[in-house]
Amino acid sequence: MDAAFFKKNGENAKKSIYIEEKSTKGDVMSLIFSLKEEVGALAKALRLFEEKGVNLTHIESRPSRFKKGEYEFFIDLDCKDVTSVEEILHTLQKEISGTVHELSRDKRKDTVPWFPRTIQDLDRFANQILSYGAELDADHPGFTDPVYRARRKEFADIAYNYRHGDVIPRVEYTEHEKKTWNIVLRELKTLYPTHACLEHNRVFPLLEQYCGYREHNIPQLEDVSNFLQSCTGFRLRPVAGLLSSRDFLAGLAFRVFHSTQYIRHKLSPMYTPEPDVCHELLGHVPLFADLNFAQFSQEIGLASLGAPDEYIEKLATIYWFTVEFGLCKQNNETKAYGAGLLSSFGELQYCLTNKPDLRPFDPEKTVCQKYPITNFQPIYFVAESFEDAKEKVRKYAESIPRPFSVRYNSYTQTIEVLDNIEQLKNFVDNINSEVGILYHALRKLQ
Ligand SMILES: [Fe+2]
Repeated sequence: MDAAFFKKNGENAKKSIYIEEKSTKGDVMSLIFSLKEEVGALAKALRLFEEKGVNLTHIESRPSRFKKGEYEFFIDLDCKDVTSVEEILHTLQKEISGTVHELSRDKRKDTVPWFPRTIQDLDRFANQILSYGAELDADHPGFTDPVYRARRKEFADIAYNYRHGDVIPRVEYTEHEKKTWNIVLRELKTLYPTHACLEHNRVFPLLEQYCGYREHNIPQLEDVSNFLQSCTGFRLRPVAGLLSSRDFLAGLAFRVFHSTQYIRHKLSPMYTPEPDVCHELLGHVPLFADLNFAQFSQEIGLASLGAPDEYIEKLATIYWFTVEFGLCKQNNETKAYGAGLLSSFGELQYCLTNKPDLRPFDPEKTVCQKYPITNFQPIYFVAESFEDAKEKVRKYAESIPRPFSVRYNSYTQTIEVLDNIEQLKNFVDNINSEVGILYHALRKLQ
């Protein structure tokens, strides 16, 4: 039993609360009750559960710290039959020795999946990768290449050892690696002026100027991360392979993008079965330097915090059809802004032909759309603008069943859970202060 849990119950106990549900998680309920220290008292209490056929899965006991001569019992029970459980709790309260004083409930606790509250919390899951890293599948182009595999391990080790706040280690890329980058960059640059969105084309020259985006140089994640932070507060964090959708999206809530650092195998410069540094630096990075897009991406991340699993899948689908494969309208034309498109010569050409089916971005419909992972997309969703897409995602997020709202505090780099008056008061104070600045700025303009 964890100390924090007992501390809380200790505080409550001073107010004569001796029975309290700790949590309700799925069909499991945890609770504490206290009994007088006398022979048969526990057996009597447990019989209540037995008679109703309610299974106890865990039990612990200790002398009460708050009432001499009493014992406290912590139990986990199977609460599929809610009515029976209610009856047992009622009997515990009313009929056993008069030592059960109060029943309180907090169904929210522990029914909400864990999510990071501070930017340092990202360290807790950054190494829980689902695949890739140093291990390669049998159909990976580098599977039979021991040199490539050893190189991948070097990159995986950098990511494994990285902690928030560290400088991202610089990598001396080999001539082969630089050659692969060169091929990919040269090809894509021929398409960007006509196929990429305005934001991508506006940022790209800045990356060439400040971050070492050149044909014979693979930019360093640390330089790119610093550049992004100065533009939008986004930062890169090295990752060894694929994270779960929940973990990856949680990073976006903090404006942290988990980025690979290795490059695809030299034998297939125009194809990679997994994200690599070409995909991250050419596809994702330029857009994260745009304020509206950064806000849009963070909005998806914030919506994911504490969301039920089925909604994580839906948000991951939204992410797929926007951040990875999104198209948008600009000056009566359709342009690509998704990183999967901006880092793939073949699909960037294809997506703006008349072959795929283009549909307006509408989160309600987009979340239901199935998609292939290894082929070109048969369907793309077109956003009116990042601003419009952001509002739609925000509205969609309201439908996610969470008993609270969240906001990111960029000063403390923490997630504020807006579920109490104090938090809301602080929020209002912040807004007041911002509105005050706006008001004075407007007056000066006049
Ligand atoms: Fe990606």
